[in-house]
Amino acid sequence: MSKHIAVIRGDGIGPEIMNATLRVLDALDCGLAYEFVEAGMAALEKQGELLPQATLDAIARHRVALKGPLTTPIGGGFSSLNVELRKRFDLYANVRPAITFPGTKARYENIDIITVRENTEGAYLAEGQSVSEDGETAQSLIRVTRRGSERIVRYAFEMARRKGRRKVSVVHKANIMKTTSGLFLKVAREVAKDYPEIECNELIVDNTCMQLVMNPHQFDVIVTTNLFGDIISDLCAGLVGGLGLAPGANIGTEAAIFEAVHGSAPDIAGKGVANPCALLLAAADMLDHLDLVEQGRIVRRAIHDTLEARDRVTPDLGGKGSTDSFADALVERVRAA
Ligand code: NAI
Ligand code: MG
Repeated sequence: MSKHIAVIRGDGIGPEIMNATLRVLDALDCGLAYEFVEAGMAALEKQGELLPQATLDAIARHRVALKGPLTTPIGGGFSSLNVELRKRFDLYANVRPAITFPGTKARYENIDIITVRENTEGAYLAEGQSVSEDGETAQSLIRVTRRGSERIVRYAFEMARRKGRRKVSVVHKANIMKTTSGLFLKVAREVAKDYPEIECNELIVDNTCMQLVMNPHQFDVIVTTNLFGDIISDLCAGLVGGLGLAPGANIGTEAAIFEAVHGSAPDIAGKGVANPCALLLAAADMLDHLDLVEQGRIVRRAIHDTLEARDRVTPDLGGKGSTDSFADALVERVRAA
């Protein structure tokens, strides 16, 4: 049976890394079928709008999308397309794995941490922002709800159970932000009781940052609110060698969008040297989501072995290869698996 997904090639290096990623997925021969749709600058140029209805319809229809990075034009009052997509499909869980691969600039070996970040509320509300008339005072609103907290914490525990992970760390600042972070922590404690087989601990966010740098191996799954999760997931990406290897998923009940964490990299676009690994790792997470778990494992293994052998890898990893040669090396390993 074929599984259809919506594919957005994206802007800048997007088409190059998507091309490489789809070559590797095709080598799996697992019945994936693609509907190509546009968003971002590519859509603005061809269709006159950044987020065409046909793109939204395709995501809604297939419920799963693989997305290249999008350039949101600066000025002109455009809101971020990624924020827009999150809102449209209520993609409440932002899931960011950080795994060390050999042959990279990782600071530690054997790191495997998944940050589950609440993606719709907390400190990142568009509403409730104001600046006083004299410009001397600015304020914004933080909103945490029981529903928002419960569904993200439950998502983290369910994911931990499904993937056989041993521990979930709840990260908060309830000692100072007593109402908002306090509610998140209270709900997290309640939800944790439903998962007695999974260890649960609580950490304050600033201490978490220090612990991540000093002793990252104590972490397994981290669940936290929007702002803290944004920062912590980048810290974790830094621990494993940076953006070139950082995938992300935005997951809701109606749809899930898989992407690289990095942007459209205009400085190297069109040069054929972009590293396709972050998008390919996102595609591996997408395969898991589609119950193609074995195929996801094959893709990660191919990335691992290609990096370990430093076989045709791109310049950001210290290699002399191109996006295409890197993809060749990955495709060969997937075919041999
Ligand atoms: P960026 O992530 O595009 O680039 C930062 C640096 O990392 C650049 O030097 C770039 O060459 C390098 N880099 C990024 N991905 C790479 C890859 N796969 N291989 C090798 N090197 C890579 O961030 P920047 O420059 O701040 O943003 C550029 C554009 O991307 C902006 O328009 C921004 O709005 C957009 N953006 C889109 C995102 C998305 O669609 N998810 C996320 C972040 C930024
Ligand atoms: Mg961020």
